[in-house]
Amino acid sequence: MWTTSPPPSRPGPPTRWAGHQRGPEAALAYRQRFLDLEAAGADLHGEARFVSELAPPPSRVLDAGCGYGRVASELTRRGHYAVGVDADPDLVALAQEDPRTRFVVADLSTLDLRTEQEFHVVLLAGNVVPFLAEGTLAAVLERLTAHLVPGGHLVAGFALGDAVPQGAAPVSLDDYDRLARTAGLSYIARWSTWDRQPFGADSTYALSVHRRLGG
Ligand SMILES: C[S@@+](CC[C@H](N)C(=O)[O-])C[C@H]1O[C@@H](n2cnc3c(N)ncnc32)[C@H](O)[C@@H]1O
Repeated sequence: MWTTSPPPSRPGPPTRWAGHQRGPEAALAYRQRFLDLEAAGADLHGEARFVSELAPPPSRVLDAGCGYGRVASELTRRGHYAVGVDADPDLVALAQEDPRTRFVVADLSTLDLRTEQEFHVVLLAGNVVPFLAEGTLAAVLERLTAHLVPGGHLVAGFALGDAVPQGAAPVSLDDYDRLARTAGLSYIARWSTWDRQPFGADSTYALSVHRRLGG
């Protein structure tokens, strides 16, 4: 586990997210949308609850594509050792307002935290997958798997087909499962929501759980 300065990060190709939004003002506006939802009574912590049930605290969790730290900070609050990584430096700057959680600017397709096999869970929450740079999903899954303990879980939630947000590109579940298998992950389960509603042919959102072989 690294405890001093964060490791350097090799930049990856521009993500679809970077084409969709960038800069400090866009980051603030993005966070504000969530804060407004929360103030209106929305539950923003379904992902953190799911992870805590899968691997109870103090398990180690990598929030991959953490944005402004919505999930990672909640995981810390729940007693996990959480690390957040994102390629958007303006979102990471906001995330770093939480001094209890470690946040790093890094690209998932080249990620090397120098802590191979560190995490019990790697989480891809909130449409990170459809916002990756084109053609990088295989590299991202390989890098994330390398950071999992044997038997650790990769958890990914993303919208499907026409339900993907503006600026994102749909990823088929066949492709996702195939590339996960190639990365050394086995399929465990799939739901349509973070509170485990069943997944069906008409589902517009997939919550997928895979497991690193060898545990
Ligand atoms: C829709 S936001 C979700 C943020 C956060 N997971 C949440 O749910 O609040 C998608 C995030 O994925 C990040 N992302 C996309 N591709 C990435 C990559 N290759 N490396 C690191 N972060 C990436 C973007 O920078 C963006 O912050």
